[in-house]
Amino acid sequence: MNLRRLLFLLMLVPVMATAQTIKSPNGNIVLTFSLDGNGRPTYEMTYKGKAVVKPSHLGLELAKDKHASLGTNERDLMDGFRIANTETTAFDETWQPVWGETRDIRNHYNELAVTLTQSLKQPRVTANEGERGMYEELRERNIIIRFRVYDDGIGFRYEFPQQENLNYFLIKDERSEFAMAGDHIAWWLPGDYDTQEQETQQTRLSEIRDRFQQAVNWGNSSVAVFSPTGVQTSLQMKTDDGLYINIHEAACLDYATMHLELVDAKTTQLTTKLMGSSNRYTPAPEPSNYPLPQPFTFVSHLTPDATGLKGCMQTPCSTPWRTVMVSDDARDMLSSNLILNLNEPCKLEDTSWIHPTKYCGVWWEMIVGKSNWHYTNDFPSIKLGQIDWNSVKPHGRHAANNEKVKRYIDFAAKNGLDEVLVEGWNVGWEDWANMWKRDVFDFVTPYPDFDIQMLNDYAHSKGVKLLMHHETSSSSQNYERHIKEAFELMNHYGYDAVKTGYVGDIIPRGDHHYSQSMNNHYLYVIQEAAKHHIMVNSHEATRPTGLCRTYPNLVGGESARGTEYEAFGGSRPDHTCILPFTRLQGGPMDYTPGIFVTRLNTWSDNTSWARITICGSLALYLTMYSPLQMAADLPEHYEQFDDAFQFIRDVACDWDESIYLEAEPADYITVARKAKGTDNWFIGGKCDENGHQSVIRLDFLDKGRKYECTIYADAKGAHYETNPQAYTITKKTVKRGDVLKLTEAPGGGFAVSLIAK
Ligand code: NOJ
Ligand code: CA
Repeated sequence: MNLRRLLFLLMLVPVMATAQTIKSPNGNIVLTFSLDGNGRPTYEMTYKGKAVVKPSHLGLELAKDKHASLGTNERDLMDGFRIANTETTAFDETWQPVWGETRDIRNHYNELAVTLTQSLKQPRVTANEGERGMYEELRERNIIIRFRVYDDGIGFRYEFPQQENLNYFLIKDERSEFAMAGDHIAWWLPGDYDTQEQETQQTRLSEIRDRFQQAVNWGNSSVAVFSPTGVQTSLQMKTDDGLYINIHEAACLDYATMHLELVDAKTTQLTTKLMGSSNRYTPAPEPSNYPLPQPFTFVSHLTPDATGLKGCMQTPCSTPWRTVMVSDDARDMLSSNLILNLNEPCKLEDTSWIHPTKYCGVWWEMIVGKSNWHYTNDFPSIKLGQIDWNSVKPHGRHAANNEKVKRYIDFAAKNGLDEVLVEGWNVGWEDWANMWKRDVFDFVTPYPDFDIQMLNDYAHSKGVKLLMHHETSSSSQNYERHIKEAFELMNHYGYDAVKTGYVGDIIPRGDHHYSQSMNNHYLYVIQEAAKHHIMVNSHEATRPTGLCRTYPNLVGGESARGTEYEAFGGSRPDHTCILPFTRLQGGPMDYTPGIFVTRLNTWSDNTSWARITICGSLALYLTMYSPLQMAADLPEHYEQFDDAFQFIRDVACDWDESIYLEAEPADYITVARKAKGTDNWFIGGKCDENGHQSVIRLDFLDKGRKYECTIYADAKGAHYETNPQAYTITKKTVKRGDVLKLTEAPGGGFAVSLIAK
């Protein structure tokens, strides 16, 4: 052990006199807060007596600023604190989300708020210049660290009350530590300021560094990696003694998205050098001035903006909640509402216009490469407003044309789908990506073969709506300049939902997808959309942190590797058995499931293939919870398998109750859900490449009631690679207490509907 580490361990011995302990309502989780000998805030956490987070420091390093007005940042918010006050309270309330996995959500916790005081020294300004610096005047400032302890985990955040000595400050980095008690298995994505579309890695904590290079060796139009042990949240782990631990954040508002940097045996200092391609304009972080924690400790690492700063704060303000979920049952990770509970209640007065939505779209064929978003090949580059689109020559592969859109509207109407997404409807796609082009789209001008009035009228006449698409190409200021007009156009034609997109590096240049400024942009879009009664589904935006509780018009998002990657080389069959443990913790994902024809070269030149069976695809409508669900494959493919498509027609996407029956990260997930306002249940099971046997006791059905049960199951011999389209459909009458035994093929799954008689 080197000297520095020894010193550190000595410093961690808490001053017992100041230790505060708080338990979860059922007593299983115990959180202890104390100050170490240097006045550094320290917390630890146990679950049923086992260490979950070993003693770990909390604090923020501040950036020095040239503006004298920021006079309060001469000392970091790291040490030298004393406890001024502690307050414990209990809270128990049940609330109803606008949409969700359950009708009621219980928010039940015990809270500890610790007010910490720090002294600042300031040279006394005297009339006599010669005396300057000779005297010191003592000033003080306070912060609050607030802990909420639930039965399924904890949340904590820093609060900065408005006060004379803390008005404005700049964050160099937040240094919240999470010291793990062992070399856990982790399901992780490389920490990145701009993308979270990587395949998940499964390794021990000690193996992250060695696996890192492989994890970042992939293609995306915007990548910014910061450390060979940097990982993203939500991070799911499993300990050797069977605990499931998940670290994430809740209510990330006016703050940068948090990553985690693992201190391992090889770490000599926290990141000081940036690694990835879109970091090229970002100044490298300065070294931390504080001792390194022990190995297997995660340290928070915020996303910088273009200047390298991680936060520009004005009090009163607070950080997002840092969350640690824990259980000895993996199913509790999926049913937890900790992140939603840590968000503020709904801020929208009228939510009657927000609705669960099933949709199809002019989309998959473009992703696969059979048709295009753009309209013409006539120009080397496009200057919006300078082209007479009616006189340009179309290349003939433009997908968003009247005839095709009408065909999708007909399909949606016939099959009870609510909306039709149309991408590539608006001018600008000819040179939309990676050109550092600010004025890339205006979001209001359709291509000549997309008759916006006629198509909306046609859709409405059939009880269907069009779903708007706003690809911003990451030109965020351009979008903000056009957004009111764009939303007014949507209101005018009767669109009530928009899919936004942030492909490529952020403009203004040098900024990152997950910075404080971009997080404020995404929030602005959600709030502006709410004013126009528009639901939002953001692609490539920052990962969600439960804001959909406060703004339920945020009905979906991508922020992970979606189905599109099945056309870009494919995703592993266990991918969808990991996402509910990680990406979905913060809110629903627009995963765009439903691929029935998995071999893309049977209908296009694309040699990629989806690693899933048809029944596996059906299961995703249950296991990947979202109030917004796409049927992503082509209408003609669904028509080929119309009996299996019946499940997509029937399945609900809003629920009164959800019961996770089986779960193990990266292996399998089985869930039963009761459709909102009905007595009907749907069950889905999805597994990895090894297949799975499910035994389901129908204990949750109403007593004395009969149900018409339809089972969509992988047929004998089904396999995601060799035989993905083999399924059986069986019907029978069932009642409470009956048992279903179902076999999931490798990469497969099952779907069951139970309609009350
Ligand atoms: C990436 C999105 O994830 C995808 O759904 C969309 O079609 C393209 N960007 C174009 O906007
Ligand atoms: Ca994407």
